[in-house]
Amino acid sequence: MDFKKYIAIVPDYPKEGIVFKDISPLMNDGEAYKAATDAIVEFAKEKEIDLIVGPEARGFIIGCPVAYALGIGFAPVRKEGKLPREVVKVEYGKEYGKDVLTIHKDAIQPGQRILITDDLLATGGTIEATIKLVEELGGVVAGIAFLVELTYLDGRDKLDGYDVLTLMQY
Ligand code: PRP
Ligand code: ADE
Repeated sequence: MDFKKYIAIVPDYPKEGIVFKDISPLMNDGEAYKAATDAIVEFAKEKEIDLIVGPEARGFIIGCPVAYALGIGFAPVRKEGKLPREVVKVEYGKEYGKDVLTIHKDAIQPGQRILITDDLLATGGTIEATIKLVEELGGVVAGIAFLVELTYLDGRDKLDGYDVLTLMQY
């Protein structure tokens, strides 16, 4: 499927100079959303994944249907102050700002094989922070899947040695 036809390109959002790739038209189309989900499920199947982990908010949109299809759980990574129990946290930078990500301390059992999902790889700051949280809790990052990769921001350089799937590249 030509997934790119379901991505809306929005110049100067959320800041001047950023070219935003909006995945919401893809989610809005049942066939395209299912095809993208199925591609990630296929990638995950051979990896014996125990749990999906995805960063707020668009990582949930990608990860939850994959978790459902595989019959496994999903653990949310959220911005600071959003998770109600004990967390581990990490500061990070992304294409248009800085933030803090957290995960519940009991979300991952040591040795569990984790698939990380998100909508888009830009500078890689968000995914690098998510990997740190997973590994701090003893999880094994068995794969990382995105819909979109912005190759001009070199986020892949932060993912050396990990098994990465991206369905579209710009
Ligand atoms: C966006 C996007 C990725 C991240 C990519 O999330 O969904 O998670 O930025 O950028 P990076 O590779 O430079 O880190 P955002 O923090 O805007 O949150 P949202 O999903 O809640 O909109
Ligand atoms: N997250 C970080 N950079 C982005 C971009 N250019 N488009 C959509 N989401 C993003």
